[in-house]
Amino acid sequence: GRKWTEIGSLTADLADQSVLIRGSAQAIRAVGKKMAFLVVRQFMSTVQCVVTVDKEFVSAQMVKFANGLSKESIVDVAGVVSIPKEAIKGTTQQVEIQVKKIYCINRAVPNLPINIEDAARSEKEFEKAELTGEQLVRVGQDTRLNYRVLDMRTPANQGIFRIQCEVENIFRQFMLSEGFVGIHSPKLIGGSSEGGSAVFKLDYKGQPACLAQSPQLYKQMAICGGFGRVFEVGSVFRAEDSYTHRHLCEFVGLDAEMEIKEHYFEVIDIVDRLFVSMFDYLNEKCKKQLEAIDRQYPFEPLKYLRKTLVLTFQEGVQMLKEAGVNVDPLGDLNTENERKLGRLVLDEYNTEFYILHRYPLAVRPFYTMPCYDDPVYSNSFDVFIRGEEIISGAQRIHSPELLTSRAKACGIDVKTISTYIDSFRYGAPPHGGFGVGLERVVMLFCALNNIRKTSLFPRDPQRLVP
Ligand code: 4AD
Repeated sequence: GRKWTEIGSLTADLADQSVLIRGSAQAIRAVGKKMAFLVVRQFMSTVQCVVTVDKEFVSAQMVKFANGLSKESIVDVAGVVSIPKEAIKGTTQQVEIQVKKIYCINRAVPNLPINIEDAARSEKEFEKAELTGEQLVRVGQDTRLNYRVLDMRTPANQGIFRIQCEVENIFRQFMLSEGFVGIHSPKLIGGSSEGGSAVFKLDYKGQPACLAQSPQLYKQMAICGGFGRVFEVGSVFRAEDSYTHRHLCEFVGLDAEMEIKEHYFEVIDIVDRLFVSMFDYLNEKCKKQLEAIDRQYPFEPLKYLRKTLVLTFQEGVQMLKEAGVNVDPLGDLNTENERKLGRLVLDEYNTEFYILHRYPLAVRPFYTMPCYDDPVYSNSFDVFIRGEEIISGAQRIHSPELLTSRAKACGIDVKTISTYIDSFRYGAPPHGGFGVGLERVVMLFCALNNIRKTSLFPRDPQRLVP
């Protein structure tokens, strides 16, 4: 029958009311023997709780008990909401709680490997501290990931993973509203799905097998199976050997595949409307989360247009050339040139979200449809946020003969994908689709510098634990 209140909803209009909260004891400060200040945190919010000796509820013993709490212990606090005389520094809530009772629900060990207040500080705070001589401890990436359950508690991380959940949900809702059917394709498969060497091999009851590099072949087979439009949210495995800021060995793929009636721009149109509505939603409905992220990792809101800019690969190459960057017009863009192009596009079109299409066929996977008018190019596209790729997509080949010859040309043993190729012999509609990297979307929307920040328990070439 008690009324539990979330710390984030403690506001001045609750003044003088009795509340009960549960949270983590983030900071404890004694003032003599008769008073203690306790900062209690829940999700992205903190509130100051004042424990003062009085005749009715609080004894000197209780103040001592409060002072003896270890940081990050879980506490229940019953008290009365009050408006402080002076503005409070360091908590999100501008009210205090005058404590009547405190219960410790579960104690944390006294020497934590990460201090949450240190882990939550921005680079600016550290720079300021250097000037004032204040000693603050920087928490490195590895320490954070080693003790992720502690690191997760920072407001920025609480914001990041809530935003990630929103992105996934918006994707799902949008796809459903457009008539896509959600599917689940197998992750244990017999051959590689994207080609190349970045595949985890394993033993499947004595048979060689792989972890799926993407739902690619299976989502296409679902289109051959008559679903018209399908999507999938699921884990994707890549045995990356390079250690970069944007590659994981396991990430979450948001995949879509659909029949094409006339042109692969029907796929691009879905991407355009999905992402413009996603960015709108995040900016309008997720302010609290974005602010929590911005407080630790300041970033400028993403610049995007109401109708997404679509350029051809050739136009991109031309823009780079004019800026003095020499690129192979039939090669792929490297990371550095993608970033450069991102800056050029921003200058010229005032957007940090855009699509590049009609890539050279040679740099795309075997299943990509060549352009009808010029097979040196392909009906494919990549999508960029702040100069980095978040999506690749294309029209696919639906003729089994062309598919076979393209697979061979790309050095793929067609025997390993014969059931996939056969799927196109029974009447398969023209189709196309795209794959989004969820962690990359969140990383780049919030201009974070490392994909490990947007993966709850990242898997990279050097990390399998925790
Ligand atoms: O570009 P990729 O490899 O394309 C495919 O998997 C195709 N089957 C997609 C399609 O439908 N045509 O991967 C798609 C996206 C990339 O744009 C990137 O955002 C993300 O997945 N991605 C990674 N994210 C984190 N770590 C990695 N190692 C990633 N590799 C790709």
